[in-house]
Amino acid sequence: MKIISVVGARPNFMKIAPFIKAIAKHNKSSVDKIEHFLVHTGQHYDDRMSRAFFEQLEIPDADINLGVGSGSHAEQVGHTMIEFEKVLREKKPDWVVIVGDVNAILACSVTAKKENILCCHIEAGLRSGDMSMPEEVNRLVADRISDLLLTPDRMSSENLRKEGVPEEKIRFTGNIMIDTLENKKATAASLSLEDIIRDNSVNETWKSIGKVEEDKFALMTLHRPSNVDSKEILEPIVRFMIDEVTPEMPLIWTVHPRTRKMLDNFGLLDEVMNNKNLMLLEPLGYLEMLKLNMHARVILTDSGGLQEECTVLGTPCLTMRWNTERPITLREHGGASVLVGNSIRTIREEFIAAVKKPRIPIHPELWDGKTAERCLQEIINYNSRLH
Ligand code: UD1
Repeated sequence: MKIISVVGARPNFMKIAPFIKAIAKHNKSSVDKIEHFLVHTGQHYDDRMSRAFFEQLEIPDADINLGVGSGSHAEQVGHTMIEFEKVLREKKPDWVVIVGDVNAILACSVTAKKENILCCHIEAGLRSGDMSMPEEVNRLVADRISDLLLTPDRMSSENLRKEGVPEEKIRFTGNIMIDTLENKKATAASLSLEDIIRDNSVNETWKSIGKVEEDKFALMTLHRPSNVDSKEILEPIVRFMIDEVTPEMPLIWTVHPRTRKMLDNFGLLDEVMNNKNLMLLEPLGYLEMLKLNMHARVILTDSGGLQEECTVLGTPCLTMRWNTERPITLREHGGASVLVGNSIRTIREEFIAAVKKPRIPIHPELWDGKTAERCLQEIINYNSRLH
Protein backbone atom coordinates (compact mmCIF):
# COMPACT_ATOMS: atom_id res chain seq x y z
CA MET A 1 0.00 0.00 0.00
CA LYS A 2 1.21 3.49 -0.82
CA ILE A 3 0.19 6.47 1.33
CA ILE A 4 0.83 10.18 0.82
CA SER A 5 0.22 12.26 3.92
CA VAL A 6 0.02 16.02 3.82
CA VAL A 7 1.03 18.84 6.16
CA GLY A 8 0.76 22.56 5.53
CA ALA A 9 0.79 24.62 8.67
CA ARG A 10 1.99 24.54 12.27
CA PRO A 11 -0.93 22.66 13.88
CA ASN A 12 -0.47 19.78 11.42
CA PHE A 13 2.99 18.81 12.56
CA MET A 14 2.11 17.40 16.00
CA LYS A 15 -0.67 15.39 14.36
CA ILE A 16 1.39 13.82 11.58
CA ALA A 17 4.41 12.90 13.77
CA PRO A 18 2.71 9.96 15.56
CA PHE A 19 1.14 8.75 12.30
CA ILE A 20 4.56 8.51 10.65
CA LYS A 21 5.89 6.66 13.72
CA ALA A 22 2.96 4.24 13.50
CA ILE A 23 3.84 3.46 9.87
CA ALA A 24 7.50 2.84 10.80
CA LYS A 25 6.40 0.51 13.61
CA HIS A 26 4.06 -1.36 11.26
CA ASN A 27 6.81 -1.76 8.66
CA LYS A 28 9.14 -3.31 11.24
CA SER A 29 6.71 -6.07 12.14
CA SER A 30 4.68 -6.72 9.00
CA VAL A 31 5.48 -8.25 5.62
CA ASP A 32 2.93 -5.96 3.97
CA LYS A 33 5.08 -2.85 3.93
CA ILE A 34 3.58 0.59 3.59
CA GLU A 35 5.32 2.99 1.26
CA HIS A 36 4.93 6.51 2.63
CA PHE A 37 5.61 9.95 1.23
CA LEU A 38 5.25 13.17 3.21
CA VAL A 39 4.15 16.27 1.32
CA HIS A 40 4.54 19.75 2.86
CA THR A 41 2.45 22.36 1.05
CA GLY A 42 4.75 25.11 2.37
CA GLN A 43 1.92 27.28 3.77
CA HIS A 44 4.01 27.82 6.90
CA TYR A 45 7.58 28.34 5.85
CA ASP A 46 9.41 30.20 8.70
CA ASP A 47 11.87 28.13 10.69
CA ARG A 48 9.89 28.93 13.81
CA MET A 49 6.53 27.99 12.28
CA SER A 50 7.75 24.82 10.59
CA ARG A 51 11.36 23.56 10.74
CA ALA A 52 11.59 23.68 14.54
CA PHE A 53 8.63 21.28 14.75
CA PHE A 54 10.15 18.78 12.35
CA GLU A 55 13.29 18.68 14.48
CA GLN A 56 11.65 18.46 17.91
CA LEU A 57 9.02 15.95 16.83
CA GLU A 58 11.50 13.85 14.83
CA ILE A 59 9.49 14.13 11.64
CA PRO A 60 11.57 13.09 8.65
CA ASP A 61 12.11 15.84 6.07
CA ALA A 62 9.19 16.15 3.71
CA ASP A 63 9.74 14.14 0.53
CA ILE A 64 8.11 16.90 -1.47
CA ASN A 65 7.61 20.60 -0.67
CA LEU A 66 5.02 22.35 -2.82
CA GLY A 67 6.41 25.78 -1.90
CA VAL A 68 3.01 27.45 -1.68
CA GLY A 69 3.89 30.08 0.94
CA SER A 70 1.50 32.80 2.06
CA GLY A 71 -1.22 34.50 0.06
CA SER A 72 -4.98 34.76 -0.01
CA HIS A 73 -6.94 31.59 0.66
CA ALA A 74 -7.71 31.18 -3.04
CA GLU A 75 -4.04 31.61 -3.90
CA GLN A 76 -2.95 29.07 -1.29
CA VAL A 77 -5.62 26.52 -2.22
CA GLY A 78 -5.26 26.99 -5.98
CA HIS A 79 -1.49 26.77 -5.93
CA THR A 80 -1.60 23.67 -3.69
CA MET A 81 -4.07 21.91 -6.01
CA ILE A 82 -1.97 22.57 -9.11
CA GLU A 83 1.21 21.26 -7.49
CA PHE A 84 -0.41 18.38 -5.60
CA GLU A 85 -2.08 17.04 -8.76
CA LYS A 86 1.38 16.63 -10.32
CA VAL A 87 2.57 14.72 -7.26
CA LEU A 88 -0.43 12.38 -7.33
CA ARG A 89 -0.01 11.66 -11.04
CA GLU A 90 3.63 10.79 -10.52
CA LYS A 91 3.40 8.80 -7.28
CA LYS A 92 -0.04 7.21 -7.77
CA PRO A 93 -0.74 6.52 -4.08
CA ASP A 94 -3.58 4.31 -2.82
CA TRP A 95 -4.38 6.81 -0.07
CA VAL A 96 -4.04 10.49 0.70
CA VAL A 97 -4.10 11.18 4.44
CA ILE A 98 -4.95 14.68 5.67
CA VAL A 99 -4.98 15.97 9.25
CA GLY A 100 -6.71 18.89 10.95
CA ASP A 101 -8.42 21.82 9.27
CA VAL A 102 -5.90 24.07 7.52
CA ASN A 103 -6.09 25.08 3.85
CA ALA A 104 -4.07 22.03 2.77
CA ILE A 105 -6.88 19.63 3.67
CA LEU A 106 -9.37 21.32 1.38
CA ALA A 107 -6.93 21.55 -1.51
CA CYS A 108 -5.56 18.02 -1.17
CA SER A 109 -8.83 16.19 -0.52
CA VAL A 110 -10.44 17.73 -3.61
CA THR A 111 -7.38 16.97 -5.73
CA ALA A 112 -7.20 13.38 -4.45
CA LYS A 113 -10.86 12.67 -5.16
CA LYS A 114 -10.65 14.16 -8.66
CA GLU A 115 -7.78 11.72 -9.29
CA ASN A 116 -9.92 8.87 -7.90
CA ILE A 117 -7.63 8.30 -4.93
CA LEU A 118 -8.94 7.28 -1.51
CA CYS A 119 -8.79 10.02 1.10
CA CYS A 120 -8.66 9.66 4.87
CA HIS A 121 -9.26 12.61 7.19
CA ILE A 122 -7.76 12.35 10.66
CA GLU A 123 -9.58 14.68 13.10
CA ALA A 124 -12.82 14.53 11.14
CA GLY A 125 -16.25 15.67 12.32
CA LEU A 126 -15.27 18.81 14.27
CA ARG A 127 -17.82 21.57 13.67
CA SER A 128 -17.91 25.12 14.99
CA GLY A 129 -21.04 25.98 13.00
CA ASP A 130 -19.30 29.24 12.07
CA MET A 131 -18.99 29.56 8.31
CA SER A 132 -16.95 32.75 8.63
CA MET A 133 -14.05 30.60 9.83
CA PRO A 134 -11.91 29.46 6.91
CA GLU A 135 -11.19 26.25 8.82
CA GLU A 136 -14.92 25.37 9.02
CA VAL A 137 -15.21 25.54 5.24
CA ASN A 138 -12.13 23.32 4.97
CA ARG A 139 -13.58 20.76 7.40
CA LEU A 140 -16.96 20.59 5.67
CA VAL A 141 -15.48 20.07 2.22
CA ALA A 142 -12.88 17.52 3.34
CA ASP A 143 -15.38 15.50 5.38
CA ARG A 144 -18.00 15.54 2.62
CA ILE A 145 -15.69 13.92 0.08
CA SER A 146 -13.28 11.79 2.14
CA ASP A 147 -13.70 8.02 2.22
CA LEU A 148 -12.60 7.38 5.79
CA LEU A 149 -13.38 9.81 8.60
CA LEU A 150 -11.43 9.25 11.81
CA THR A 151 -12.89 11.23 14.68
CA PRO A 152 -11.28 12.45 17.93
CA ASP A 153 -14.42 12.12 20.08
CA ARG A 154 -17.95 10.74 19.97
CA MET A 155 -19.53 14.18 19.47
CA SER A 156 -17.63 14.53 16.20
CA SER A 157 -18.85 11.10 15.02
CA GLU A 158 -22.37 12.23 15.86
CA ASN A 159 -21.91 15.46 13.83
CA LEU A 160 -21.05 13.34 10.80
CA ARG A 161 -24.06 11.05 11.30
CA LYS A 162 -26.33 14.09 11.49
CA GLU A 163 -24.92 15.23 8.14
CA GLY A 164 -25.87 11.87 6.66
CA VAL A 165 -22.40 10.33 6.40
CA PRO A 166 -22.75 6.54 6.06
CA GLU A 167 -21.73 4.60 9.18
CA GLU A 168 -19.04 2.57 7.39
CA LYS A 169 -17.03 5.74 6.73
CA ILE A 170 -16.92 6.85 10.40
CA ARG A 171 -14.47 5.49 12.97
CA PHE A 172 -13.85 6.93 16.45
CA THR A 173 -10.09 6.63 16.96
CA GLY A 174 -9.29 9.35 19.55
CA ASN A 175 -7.16 12.48 19.52
CA ILE A 176 -3.92 12.01 17.61
CA MET A 177 -2.36 15.23 18.93
CA ILE A 178 -2.46 13.79 22.43
CA ASP A 179 -0.16 10.98 21.23
CA THR A 180 2.51 13.64 20.74
CA LEU A 181 1.76 15.30 24.06
CA GLU A 182 2.10 12.01 25.94
CA ASN A 183 5.26 11.19 24.04
CA LYS A 184 6.94 14.55 24.71
CA LYS A 185 5.64 15.46 28.18
CA ALA A 186 8.71 14.33 30.06
CA THR A 187 11.15 16.07 27.69
CA ALA A 188 9.17 19.30 27.89
CA ALA A 189 9.05 19.10 31.69
CA SER A 190 12.82 19.02 31.84
CA LEU A 191 13.20 22.39 30.04
CA SER A 192 13.94 25.54 32.02
CA LEU A 193 11.33 28.28 32.01
CA GLU A 194 14.03 30.91 32.33
CA ASP A 195 15.90 29.63 29.27
CA ILE A 196 12.73 29.55 27.18
CA ILE A 197 11.91 33.16 28.03
CA ARG A 198 15.44 34.43 27.54
CA ASP A 199 16.11 32.56 24.29
CA ASN A 200 12.85 33.55 22.60
CA SER A 201 12.35 37.07 23.87
CA VAL A 202 11.27 39.78 21.43
CA ASN A 203 11.25 42.68 23.89
CA GLU A 204 13.89 41.70 26.47
CA THR A 205 11.53 42.41 29.40
CA TRP A 206 12.91 39.40 31.25
CA LYS A 207 15.94 41.48 32.09
CA SER A 208 13.86 43.79 34.31
CA ILE A 209 11.36 41.21 35.65
CA GLY A 210 13.97 38.78 36.84
CA LYS A 211 12.80 35.23 37.51
CA VAL A 212 9.30 34.24 36.37
CA GLU A 213 8.01 31.62 38.74
CA GLU A 214 6.27 28.44 37.62
CA ASP A 215 2.47 28.52 38.08
CA LYS A 216 2.50 32.29 38.57
CA PHE A 217 2.17 33.69 35.07
CA ALA A 218 -0.51 34.08 32.41
CA LEU A 219 0.06 32.86 28.85
CA MET A 220 -1.55 34.23 25.70
CA THR A 221 -1.66 33.25 22.02
CA LEU A 222 -3.80 35.02 19.43
CA HIS A 223 -3.85 34.61 15.67
CA ARG A 224 -7.39 34.25 14.30
CA PRO A 225 -8.34 36.85 11.70
CA SER A 226 -11.55 37.49 13.70
CA ASN A 227 -9.45 38.65 16.68
CA VAL A 228 -6.40 40.26 15.15
CA ASP A 229 -7.34 41.69 11.76
CA SER A 230 -9.35 44.68 13.05
CA LYS A 231 -8.14 47.42 15.35
CA GLU A 232 -11.59 47.74 17.01
CA ILE A 233 -11.21 44.20 18.36
CA LEU A 234 -7.47 43.88 18.90
CA GLU A 235 -6.95 47.18 20.72
CA PRO A 236 -9.37 46.53 23.63
CA ILE A 237 -7.80 43.07 24.10
CA VAL A 238 -4.35 44.65 24.28
CA ARG A 239 -5.71 47.30 26.72
CA PHE A 240 -7.13 44.59 28.98
CA MET A 241 -3.86 42.68 29.02
CA ILE A 242 -1.85 45.79 29.80
CA ASP A 243 -4.25 47.41 32.30
CA GLU A 244 -5.67 44.37 34.09
CA VAL A 245 -3.55 41.26 33.58
CA THR A 246 0.01 42.58 33.86
CA PRO A 247 -0.61 44.34 37.22
CA GLU A 248 -1.71 40.93 38.60
CA MET A 249 0.97 38.66 37.17
CA PRO A 250 3.58 38.48 34.41
CA LEU A 251 2.05 37.85 30.99
CA ILE A 252 3.88 35.77 28.41
CA TRP A 253 2.56 36.44 24.90
CA THR A 254 3.91 34.23 22.11
CA VAL A 255 3.21 36.27 19.05
CA HIS A 256 2.14 34.77 15.69
CA PRO A 257 3.53 36.51 12.55
CA ARG A 258 0.03 37.62 11.50
CA THR A 259 -0.61 39.21 14.90
CA ARG A 260 2.74 40.93 15.09
CA LYS A 261 2.13 42.47 11.68
CA MET A 262 -1.30 43.70 12.80
CA LEU A 263 -0.02 45.13 16.10
CA ASP A 264 2.49 47.08 14.06
CA ASN A 265 -0.09 48.24 11.48
CA PHE A 266 -2.44 49.46 14.25
CA GLY A 267 0.33 51.32 16.11
CA LEU A 268 0.08 49.03 19.16
CA LEU A 269 3.38 47.18 18.95
CA ASP A 270 5.52 49.74 20.80
CA GLU A 271 3.21 49.82 23.82
CA VAL A 272 3.19 46.02 24.00
CA MET A 273 6.97 45.89 23.64
CA ASN A 274 7.52 48.45 26.37
CA ASN A 275 5.25 47.06 29.08
CA LYS A 276 7.37 46.03 32.04
CA ASN A 277 5.40 42.91 32.96
CA LEU A 278 4.65 41.61 29.48
CA MET A 279 7.09 39.25 27.86
CA LEU A 280 6.62 39.13 24.13
CA LEU A 281 8.10 35.92 22.73
CA GLU A 282 8.65 34.66 19.19
CA PRO A 283 6.48 31.71 18.09
CA LEU A 284 7.76 28.81 20.19
CA GLY A 285 8.70 25.24 19.38
CA TYR A 286 6.39 22.44 20.49
CA LEU A 287 8.35 21.50 23.59
CA GLU A 288 8.73 25.07 24.82
CA MET A 289 5.01 25.75 24.40
CA LEU A 290 4.15 22.54 26.22
CA LYS A 291 6.40 23.51 29.12
CA LEU A 292 4.69 26.92 29.39
CA ASN A 293 1.28 25.27 29.25
CA MET A 294 2.28 22.91 32.07
CA HIS A 295 3.01 25.88 34.32
CA ALA A 296 0.70 28.69 33.24
CA ARG A 297 -1.74 29.85 35.92
CA VAL A 298 -4.20 30.61 33.12
CA ILE A 299 -4.14 30.59 29.31
CA LEU A 300 -5.89 33.07 27.04
CA THR A 301 -6.02 31.75 23.48
CA ASP A 302 -7.93 31.48 20.22
CA SER A 303 -6.05 28.34 19.13
CA GLY A 304 -7.91 25.07 18.64
CA GLY A 305 -5.11 22.72 19.66
CA LEU A 306 -4.26 24.57 22.86
CA GLN A 307 -7.82 24.07 24.13
CA GLU A 308 -7.23 20.33 23.87
CA GLU A 309 -3.81 20.42 25.46
CA CYS A 310 -5.18 22.54 28.33
CA THR A 311 -7.85 19.92 28.92
CA VAL A 312 -5.33 17.10 29.24
CA LEU A 313 -2.97 19.20 31.39
CA GLY A 314 -5.81 20.80 33.37
CA THR A 315 -4.70 24.38 32.67
CA PRO A 316 -7.61 26.83 33.13
CA CYS A 317 -8.22 28.17 29.60
CA LEU A 318 -10.11 31.22 28.36
CA THR A 319 -10.96 30.54 24.73
CA MET A 320 -11.17 33.88 22.98
CA ARG A 321 -13.80 32.79 20.49
CA TRP A 322 -17.60 32.78 20.37
CA ASN A 323 -17.80 29.14 19.37
CA THR A 324 -15.59 26.09 19.26
CA GLU A 325 -15.39 23.03 17.07
CA ARG A 326 -14.01 21.26 20.14
CA PRO A 327 -16.90 21.34 22.66
CA ILE A 328 -15.37 18.41 24.54
CA THR A 329 -12.75 20.87 25.87
CA LEU A 330 -15.40 23.08 27.50
CA ARG A 331 -16.09 22.99 31.22
CA GLU A 332 -19.71 21.96 30.67
CA HIS A 333 -18.44 18.79 28.96
CA GLY A 334 -15.78 18.13 31.57
CA GLY A 335 -12.91 20.11 29.97
CA ALA A 336 -10.79 23.03 31.21
CA SER A 337 -11.87 25.85 28.91
CA VAL A 338 -14.58 28.46 28.72
CA LEU A 339 -15.67 30.53 25.71
CA VAL A 340 -15.16 34.24 26.29
CA GLY A 341 -15.22 35.62 22.73
CA ASN A 342 -13.71 39.07 22.56
CA SER A 343 -16.05 40.70 25.08
CA ILE A 344 -13.80 42.38 27.60
CA ARG A 345 -16.46 42.07 30.34
CA THR A 346 -16.62 38.29 29.95
CA ILE A 347 -12.86 37.97 29.62
CA ARG A 348 -12.46 39.96 32.87
CA GLU A 349 -15.02 37.88 34.82
CA GLU A 350 -13.60 34.58 33.64
CA PHE A 351 -9.99 35.69 34.16
CA ILE A 352 -10.73 36.49 37.81
CA ALA A 353 -12.46 33.11 38.24
CA ALA A 354 -9.83 31.13 36.32
CA VAL A 355 -6.82 32.25 38.34
CA LYS A 356 -8.48 30.74 41.43
CA LYS A 357 -9.14 27.38 39.76
CA PRO A 358 -7.00 24.37 40.60
CA ARG A 359 -5.24 22.46 37.84
CA ILE A 360 -7.25 19.29 37.20
CA PRO A 361 -6.03 17.13 34.29
CA ILE A 362 -8.80 15.43 32.30
CA HIS A 363 -8.54 12.53 29.86
CA PRO A 364 -11.47 12.25 27.44
CA GLU A 365 -12.16 8.78 26.04
CA LEU A 366 -9.37 7.48 23.75
CA TRP A 367 -7.14 10.50 24.33
CA ASP A 368 -4.66 7.91 25.47
CA GLY A 369 -1.55 8.35 23.34
CA LYS A 370 -2.43 5.41 21.05
CA THR A 371 -4.59 7.08 18.43
CA ALA A 372 -2.12 6.98 15.53
CA GLU A 373 -1.91 3.18 15.59
CA ARG A 374 -5.70 2.93 15.58
CA CYS A 375 -5.85 5.35 12.62
CA LEU A 376 -3.38 3.30 10.61
CA GLN A 377 -5.23 0.10 11.48
CA GLU A 378 -8.49 1.58 10.19
CA ILE A 379 -6.82 2.43 6.88
CA ILE A 380 -5.45 -1.11 6.63
CA ASN A 381 -8.87 -2.57 7.50
CA TYR A 382 -10.58 -0.41 4.87
CA ASN A 383 -8.08 -1.58 2.29
CA SER A 384 -8.57 -5.24 3.09
CA ARG A 385 -12.34 -4.79 2.72
CA LEU A 386 -11.67 -3.54 -0.83
CA HIS A 387 -9.46 -6.43 -1.92
C1 UD1 B 1 -3.12 28.93 9.74
C2 UD1 B 1 -4.36 28.05 9.71
C3 UD1 B 1 -5.00 27.96 11.09
C4 UD1 B 1 -4.00 27.58 12.15
C5 UD1 B 1 -2.81 28.54 12.09
C6 UD1 B 1 -1.76 28.19 13.13
C7 UD1 B 1 -5.68 28.00 7.62
C8 UD1 B 1 -6.92 28.47 6.98
N1 UD1 B 1 -5.38 28.56 8.80
O1 UD1 B 1 -3.51 30.27 9.99
O2 UD1 B 1 -6.03 26.97 11.05
O3 UD1 B 1 -4.60 27.62 13.43
O4 UD1 B 1 -2.24 28.47 10.77
O5 UD1 B 1 -0.60 28.90 13.01
O6 UD1 B 1 -5.00 27.15 7.08
N2 UD1 B 1 3.35 33.87 8.00
C9 UD1 B 1 4.68 34.05 8.26
N3 UD1 B 1 5.46 32.94 8.40
C10 UD1 B 1 4.97 31.68 8.26
C11 UD1 B 1 3.59 31.53 8.01
C12 UD1 B 1 2.80 32.63 7.88
O7 UD1 B 1 5.16 35.16 8.38
O8 UD1 B 1 5.73 30.72 8.39
C13 UD1 B 1 2.48 35.04 7.85
C14 UD1 B 1 1.89 35.07 6.43
O9 UD1 B 1 2.63 35.86 5.60
C15 UD1 B 1 0.49 35.60 6.63
C16 UD1 B 1 0.18 35.32 8.08
O10 UD1 B 1 1.39 34.92 8.72
O11 UD1 B 1 0.43 36.96 6.43
C17 UD1 B 1 -0.89 34.27 8.24
O12 UD1 B 1 -0.51 33.02 7.69
P1 UD1 B 1 -1.60 32.04 7.02
O13 UD1 B 1 -0.89 30.84 6.56
O14 UD1 B 1 -2.41 32.79 6.04
O15 UD1 B 1 -2.63 31.65 8.14
P2 UD1 B 1 -2.52 31.50 9.72
O16 UD1 B 1 -3.15 32.71 10.31
O17 UD1 B 1 -1.14 31.13 10.15
